[in-house]
Amino acid sequence: MAATAPTITLRRPDDWHLHFRDGNMMKAVVGETARHFARAIVMPNLVPPVVRGADAAAYAERIRAALPEGARFTPLMTLYLTEETDPADVRAAAEAGIITAVKLYPAGATTNSASGVRDFKKVRPVLEVMEQIGLPLCIHGEVTDKDVDIFDREAVFIDRTLDPLRREMPGLRVIMEHITTRDAVDYVRAAERNLGATITVQHLIINRNHILAGGIRPHYYCLPVAKREEHRVAVRGAAVSGDARFFFGSDSAPHLDHAKESACGCAGCFSATNAVSAVTEVFDQDGALDKLEAFLSLNGPAYYRLPANEERITLEKGEPVAYPAKIPTPEGELTVFDPGFPLHWRVVG
Ligand code: DOR
Ligand code: ZN
Repeated sequence: MAATAPTITLRRPDDWHLHFRDGNMMKAVVGETARHFARAIVMPNLVPPVVRGADAAAYAERIRAALPEGARFTPLMTLYLTEETDPADVRAAAEAGIITAVKLYPAGATTNSASGVRDFKKVRPVLEVMEQIGLPLCIHGEVTDKDVDIFDREAVFIDRTLDPLRREMPGLRVIMEHITTRDAVDYVRAAERNLGATITVQHLIINRNHILAGGIRPHYYCLPVAKREEHRVAVRGAAVSGDARFFFGSDSAPHLDHAKESACGCAGCFSATNAVSAVTEVFDQDGALDKLEAFLSLNGPAYYRLPANEERITLEKGEPVAYPAKIPTPEGELTVFDPGFPLHWRVVG
């Protein structure tokens, strides 16, 4: 008699950090996320950025209209914090249920972040409203100073910006997005309240050698850039620990292949297609499948003060999962993140 395949059932996961873009790109990728995830925090770094509540409402409507027939998926919208953001508009958008968080990009930190924050004093009134109403602030935690080495930008941000901000506004609910360093893991672990962190698929799997050793691999280039192995090990240890302060945010960030495979390639890994299988494989490799549901489905909603999903998904372990290497769009293809090892866990229901 054939042995039955191992399975694991968990509450349907959410993605607490995601890029959908707009237009044809959004239409090409929205189903990749909606297939497995119930909700996603949708990043506002469009061109132009999603700055006002009305922009977020219109963008949410475009996402809902692009969903495949029958998809049960809720986009959780964010506003892009600028030095001109109107605190009253943020409050109104939160109270109307249009937005779930606000995103802070230090100016120039990453793709489409030119309208981000230079002078934190200028956004203080918005942050005060957020602190008052408990609206989470998602932070891209990297300094942008030219004199700071790109591999040190996250650690320096913690000391220069994040820690002073949290001391000044201890009631502000912060998420340090896509952490990549032991420094960030230690900092989040030391926080008693009001600090969580998202972790991507790629930062569980790759270190900087994957990007640079033996040839430059643009599809592994994202921001914050993957660091040395000891940092990957620390980030992975945080994810598989089950610690409620760490939860999944793919940072799946589609760019067309020609924009990645270029003399000045864009930052971003596109992982929506295989993220659930890849994260499950990682937890299996580490003997931590008992913590998978916490990371994918429980810790995020708890931090955001939202209910966990009632629906369940089941994964089954077997032959390597076949998934497309590329996703077509009318403007060209985009490459799906390659974990570099086979994925044995297939979402079956
Ligand atoms: O790699 C990244 N890509 N990091 C970000 O912070 C932004 C994102 C994008 O929008 O492409
Ligand atoms: Zn991002």
